[in-house]
Amino acid sequence: MKQKPRVKRDHKQNGLKHRSDAGPGKAKGHHESDANHDHAKPIGRSKADKKHVDLPALLTDKSLLRKMARKEVNSGAITPDYKLDKDLVIGLLNESLATELVCTLRYKRHYYVANRIKGRYVAAEFAQHAIEELAHADLIAERIMQLGGTPDFNPVGLAERSHAEYFEGTDLQDMIRENLVAERIAIESYRAFAQFLGEADPTTRRMIESILAMEEEHANELTDLMED
Ligand SMILES: [Fe+2]
Ligand SMILES: [Fe+2]
Repeated sequence: MKQKPRVKRDHKQNGLKHRSDAGPGKAKGHHESDANHDHAKPIGRSKADKKHVDLPALLTDKSLLRKMARKEVNSGAITPDYKLDKDLVIGLLNESLATELVCTLRYKRHYYVANRIKGRYVAAEFAQHAIEELAHADLIAERIMQLGGTPDFNPVGLAERSHAEYFEGTDLQDMIRENLVAERIAIESYRAFAQFLGEADPTTRRMIESILAMEEEHANELTDLMED
C-alpha cells in the first residue's frame, strides 16, 4: 500500500475576512468643493446623495442595547435577541456530540484491528481520525456549555443518540467503507444543521461548518484508501 506523508492540518475556523467599509462611499455628482470636505462634513451632503440604510435598533439606540445586555444577565453569552429555541439547539448539539464520540470509539477500534492485520498505513489514518473526532466532541461540548446546557456524555444510549453507527469490522476494506459511510452521514447532518442555524446563531454555525470541512477531508482520505 502506498505511503503518503500526512500533512499536518490547520484547524483554524473559517475566519471572516474583514470587508472594506460597507458604507455608501463618496457620492457621485458632488461639486469639487463639496467633495474636498466630505471626510470632515458628511452630513453636509444633500438628502438626494444619501443612501437610505436601515440599521438595526441595537446599533442606533445605546440605551436599548445596554438594557438588553442587563436583561437575563445570568444567561451569560446568550442575549435576549437569540432567536432560536436554545433547548432545541442544545439537543441537536448533544446528538452531534454523541456522533463524534461514537466515531471516536469506532476509529479507535479500527486502529487496533487494522494494526494487527498489518494495515499499518490505514491504521495510522484511523488513529488520526479518532483524535480529530474527539477534538470535535470537545468543541461541541464547549459550545453546549456556552449556550447554558450540559454536554451529554452518558454511555447509556450513546449509540441511539448518534447519527452515525458503531461498526466493529475485522476486514480492512469493510472498515474503510463503514468509516466512509459514517463520514457521509456526519457531512449530511452537519450541512443541514448549519443551514438551520443560518444567521440566527453564527457562532454555532461557524463551528459546525469548520467540523463539516474536516469530515469532508476525512471522507476524501477514506475514498483514497479504498482506491489504494
Ligand atoms: Fe468529527
Ligand atoms: Fe470525521
